[in-house]
Amino acid sequence: MDTGKAFDITVIGCGGFIGSHLLDRLLSGGELRLCGIDLSSDKIAHHLDNDRFTFIRCDIHDREVVHRAIARSTTVVLLAALCNPSQYNTRTLDVIDVNCSGTIPLVRACAESGVRLVYFSTCEVYGRTTASLVGGDYSGRYLLREDESPFILGPVSALRWSYACAKQLIERVIDAFGREQGLEYTVVRPFNFIGSRMDFLPGIDGEGVPRVLACFLGALRDGTPLMLVDGGRNRRCFTAIGDAIDACVRILDRPDACRNRIFNIGNPANEITIADLAWLMADTWHRLVPQDSRPIALREVAGAEFYGQGYEDSDRRVPDIGKAQRYLGWQPSIGLDDAIEQAMAAAIDHYGPGPVQAKG
Ligand code: NAD
Ligand code: UGA
Repeated sequence: MDTGKAFDITVIGCGGFIGSHLLDRLLSGGELRLCGIDLSSDKIAHHLDNDRFTFIRCDIHDREVVHRAIARSTTVVLLAALCNPSQYNTRTLDVIDVNCSGTIPLVRACAESGVRLVYFSTCEVYGRTTASLVGGDYSGRYLLREDESPFILGPVSALRWSYACAKQLIERVIDAFGREQGLEYTVVRPFNFIGSRMDFLPGIDGEGVPRVLACFLGALRDGTPLMLVDGGRNRRCFTAIGDAIDACVRILDRPDACRNRIFNIGNPANEITIADLAWLMADTWHRLVPQDSRPIALREVAGAEFYGQGYEDSDRRVPDIGKAQRYLGWQPSIGLDDAIEQAMAAAIDHYGPGPVQAKG
């Protein structure tokens, strides 16, 4: 259908982990005309020559350029964010700005131009489980539901929650634009997507502390201990990027079913403690890099020591995906072992196995 718009979809934050995989899928066939906006194009260099893709290198705060691209689009997918936990208590103002105040003008521009918005929020909006507050077992008190579960964050001094709080507010802003000004939107709450092109390895293609998979990978390459924050007792549901992108494409393809709805996108069958994840990654490393004979060590560290003051953590995040099953017909199919192996194999392929010590 010819909408008279220059772009079918504009992806803001297209140069990151999720954006690069979304472009791979959307540009792999069909006739969609895409625009992408980001500060960086390192992870999408393979698309820059594609006639169906227009890349604009700019900051989301460059209103004139970004708003022009939005007005020329049928749908906007908004991924731009600072979403690395090590930034939440060290760059709190930037985190609140990029994830909320700096994003509000983009939401308004979508509403004013009649453009559909697909916004990537986070499972972190749920914070902690109610079970963690009252103690005892989790029975019946941990499954997270989009339209029922409360948001449970810590006090202002627990800076970790700045990101979750910013994402909560922008979700409410988007919903209010929907109710009061007719914005057509869909909000996605991703649960720990993993795969190739995640984050960076410190000292190689970035500085600081990346998310847990890259932390453990870096340690396995370097032969240093895998650090278990607060004993690694907290749990996550890791979701393979292939399954996640399937869900995103279904959301893009079904505007009516997804109109002004929020979706958990995650794999509840892939729950694991971070300590068990460390062992799983150690075993997978030995399988993928059999020539490495160095022993693998795990070391416990306090959250405040690892991330700095103000760090707190979600204890458990298991998505109820009933809504995604019902409205999208989506069901994740990639199990944890395969998802971890795919992500690690891709990273080893990209970075090499590091300074491994040959057996014998
Ligand atoms: P990412 O960090 O890989 O990508 C974010 C992109 O935004 C980067 O390419 C970055 O350059 C760009 N960006 C940041 N600030 C910008 C600015 N001021 N102007 C222009 N571009 C800017 O993150 P990701 O993992 O791809 O996540 C994408 C979105 O999904 C984020 O909103 C994140 O909060 C959300 N999310 C991701 C996950 C996950 O599992 N990866 C989980 C929960 C939520
Ligand atoms: C992540 C990020 O906030 C976001 O990118 C995103 O919104 C969301 O969750 C998501 O991916 O769904 P979190 O899961 O806490 O938050 O981030 P990770 O860095 O992946 O940490 C996972 C767990 O591993 C945490 O308990 C952390 O303390 C622990 N960890 C991390 C370690 O034990 N050791 C490390 O070396 C690194």
